[in-house]
Amino acid sequence: MALLGFAGNPWFETVAEAQRRARKRLPRSVYMALVAGSERGITVDDNTAAYGELGFAPHVAGLHGERDLSTTIMGQPLSMPVMISPTGVQAVHPEGEVAVARAAAARGITMGLSSFASKSIEEVCAVSNQTFFQMYWVGTRDVLVQRMERARAAGAVGLIMTLDWSFSQGRDWGSPPIPEKVDLKAAVKFGPEVALRPKWLWDFASTGKLPDLSTPNLTPPGGTAPTFFGAYGEWMGTPLPTWEDVAWLREQWGGPFMLKGVMRVDDAHRAVDAGVTAISVSNHGGNNLDGTPAPIRALPAIAEAVGHEVEIVTDGGIRRGSDVVKALSLGAKATMIGRAYLWGLSANGQAGVENVLDILRSGIDSAVLGLGQRSVRDLSPSDVVIPPGFPRVLGTKNSVRVVEAVRDAG
Ligand SMILES: Cc1cc2nc3c(=O)[nH]c(=O)nc-3n(C[C@H](O)[C@H](O)[C@H](O)COP(=O)(O)O)c2cc1C
Repeated sequence: MALLGFAGNPWFETVAEAQRRARKRLPRSVYMALVAGSERGITVDDNTAAYGELGFAPHVAGLHGERDLSTTIMGQPLSMPVMISPTGVQAVHPEGEVAVARAAAARGITMGLSSFASKSIEEVCAVSNQTFFQMYWVGTRDVLVQRMERARAAGAVGLIMTLDWSFSQGRDWGSPPIPEKVDLKAAVKFGPEVALRPKWLWDFASTGKLPDLSTPNLTPPGGTAPTFFGAYGEWMGTPLPTWEDVAWLREQWGGPFMLKGVMRVDDAHRAVDAGVTAISVSNHGGNNLDGTPAPIRALPAIAEAVGHEVEIVTDGGIRRGSDVVKALSLGAKATMIGRAYLWGLSANGQAGVENVLDILRSGIDSAVLGLGQRSVRDLSPSDVVIPPGFPRVLGTKNSVRVVEAVRDAG
């Protein structure tokens, strides 16, 4: 199969290759906005590195000729334990989240649409009947309900509330400049880097549209879509949510509800008390509070604590099917992906996202085969090799005791 990867063939063999192509295709500022990470990049690096630390304990005979990769999350069937995580990313591809949603639908998985996305919930629900709408705590309660009801009316089948954003600023390698809107001033400023990426420009130019940096899912009734920065300003000015607010939003929605960004056992218990359907053990792909450990390290303790009460998914650092299998072995029911599909979208639009999903599917199948399991639902910690010191138990009495013991020993 690798022979097919000759120059000019849009098919790629790994997510790493999709990323290389994205780097070549996208203007530098757009590419760096996807690389993201915050501050020193400790967390973004740990997210991928942690998967590399885990090993497998394979069998060699008695393997299963047919494997079942399917599962369900928040009442939705998934053909494999992978979901599209919401990303508020603009200007990657003219079809943006609609292309991602088409790919997700074609491969039988759910689509998470960010409230900061470049395409509207109506456009996305028109091509995927398994769309979850993602909201941050932005605006008044009335405004939140209005946006949520709009998503419901469009056909969203679940709500994701993301709460782990801490407005961290500054990357040691430099944040990319992002224009307020694409106008003449921006064209002059970004002209040189865009000129180096004619294929990207042509993709947009051939649709007759320039990249649109507005947020159509935050449009007030009868108004116009705020710019990305306008919406970000509203967010920064909104009082921070409490656990009562989480329970309130969950109640307003009334249907399947995921809390995304949980890293601690005590917060997982609070999320259960707030009545959530699912938790995503996540650190926002390392874009947030730098120094937060990789979610896969925090997953086992959270799964053990609340896995019998709510569905547990995880995201952050997943680049191959074997990563998905490791996450399931440590207690997740499914995984969410961010950059992996963004690289596919950048490299080859909808077909590129499908390519990424196919890579993940075959990687999951291969690992499940090697581990001698019949179904992804049979995976357990005994399928993986966990090095000493790998797990991080955050937010339990036990973790406090460990810190005290270290302090006392010092
Ligand atoms: C460029 C970028 C934008 C993101 N925007 C959002 C967002 O709008 N809402 C959200 O809940 N998460 C957002 N995330 C986090 C992702 O949903 C997901 O948690 C993360 O990308 C997973 O890590 P991975 O990229 O290593 O797969 C974003 C991530 C990236 C990389």
